[in-house]
Amino acid sequence: MVLNRVTKPKAKDPRRVADHYTRKARAQHYPARSVFKLEEVDRRFGLLGSGQRVLDLGCAPGSWTMYAAQKVGPSGFVLGIDIDPVPGTWGPPVRIRTADVRELSAETLAEDGPFDVVLSDMAPRTTGQRGVDQARSADLARTALALAEKVLRPGGSFLYKIFMGPEEEDLMAAVSALFRTATRVKPRSSRSFSSEIFGLGMGLKRR
Ligand SMILES: C[S@@+](CC[C@H](N)C(=O)[O-])C[C@H]1O[C@@H](n2cnc3c(N)ncnc32)[C@H](O)[C@@H]1O
Repeated sequence: MVLNRVTKPKAKDPRRVADHYTRKARAQHYPARSVFKLEEVDRRFGLLGSGQRVLDLGCAPGSWTMYAAQKVGPSGFVLGIDIDPVPGTWGPPVRIRTADVRELSAETLAEDGPFDVVLSDMAPRTTGQRGVDQARSADLARTALALAEKVLRPGGSFLYKIFMGPEEEDLMAAVSALFRTATRVKPRSSRSFSSEIFGLGMGLKRR
């Protein structure tokens, strides 16, 4: 007897599947699905508003920058910075800089401040070694916090991404000490297999 051999289709890598949010981002002309993470935080916590000055760290390919620019409007300002060039042509209220955030001085950034909101969606190039990736992500989040502390106006807010790991709690404790409220957020559009989590500090205390 000959059995028909049924070949099981290979399971698709979930990282490469264009899901609902990817398709929605394309339909709305955003360069990345990550926009919906910011949109959810904004909707839930009322982060962004008209006329604000926003610093967007790790902004390429630019979907958070685009979203923030729409929210702050023509009277606001968004400074987007990435270590990689950001595609496209940008005009007011957006200005783009190509730089490694770890090499920026708060004093130089403060010339464009004070900012109402500092965003950091920075992520390291992953190596696949969890401990290394977590440590690099924590390093970027700490760098962003150190800058935020210096360039935010009192009352300002800080949203940052970090890969879940041993250093995440320490960072959240540092944010709690500096801001009136500190919250951990895992947006619905953040893929469940991703170890990323967002921290949000609102209401920078007066120094
Ligand atoms: C997840 S992407 C950001 C996506 C962006 N928020 C968007 O919605 O289009 C993370 C970014 O962090 C940037 N990045 C990583 N390390 C950085 C560093 N040291 N300085 C500046 N940008 C950095 C990467 O180049 C990458 O573009």
